[in-house]
Amino acid sequence: AEVVIVGDAAEAGALVAETLADLIAERPDAVLGLATGSTPLTTYRALAETVASRGLDVSRVRGFALDEYVGLPPGHSESYRSVITREVVEPLGLRPDLVHVPNGDPATIVTAGDDYEAEIRRAGGIDVQILGIGRTGHIGFNEPGSSFGSLTRVKTLTEATRRDNARFFDSIDDVPTHCLTQGLGTILRARHLVLLAFSAAKAEAVTRAVEGPLTASVPGSAVQLHPRVSVIVDEDAAARLE
Ligand code: F6R
Repeated sequence: AEVVIVGDAAEAGALVAETLADLIAERPDAVLGLATGSTPLTTYRALAETVASRGLDVSRVRGFALDEYVGLPPGHSESYRSVITREVVEPLGLRPDLVHVPNGDPATIVTAGDDYEAEIRRAGGIDVQILGIGRTGHIGFNEPGSSFGSLTRVKTLTEATRRDNARFFDSIDDVPTHCLTQGLGTILRARHLVLLAFSAAKAEAVTRAVEGPLTASVPGSAVQLHPRVSVIVDEDAAARLE
């Protein structure tokens, strides 16, 4: 992997936004893989500014979110559908029907993973996949024990991840127990992976993902199998790298 150490999250966001803007300029129907959580927010903000300042046409840009909670009521403000609408679709001015999020409705959950894979295939695959990493080493919501070949499917969230994400909800009891997530196999099919991590809380996970042994215990280590990975970290997250 190519590792870039930046001063802070804002600098990382500006750097990644430049890459994404260049891609969109060259390929107006680019397919973006979208992470949620706190980590990619500076990228999305910077990209919205760059799109406006360069006057880029984003009317054909497509997007696929990494994951979604299972069972939140439609329109819940913390569903990843809502988050992607609020943080990406609206600020960038993307066409909402071109931006896909896995469907976490329990009624259709049995087929939702295969349906999502089919949509990604129909779009011709993902050009750039933005990734954050959890303290458990997860990418997407592929928690430890996920198979490197896995495709979009239902997973159980670990207690640690539910605790980490409780900040977005009134209490941990409101954090769903299950999610639908792109698999490690899905993520590895993207043409370029951009893994972002900030703060000392991520240092261990980053080191194990980028330099540790390939192991299902650290799902992020799957990125070592990919020929084109950019790892963009601040100094705190990079502190334990060799
Ligand atoms: C989000 C996702 C997760 C997060 C990870 C880090 O779509 O798939 O892997 O990227 O949990 O979360 P933050 O960025 O909030 O620290």
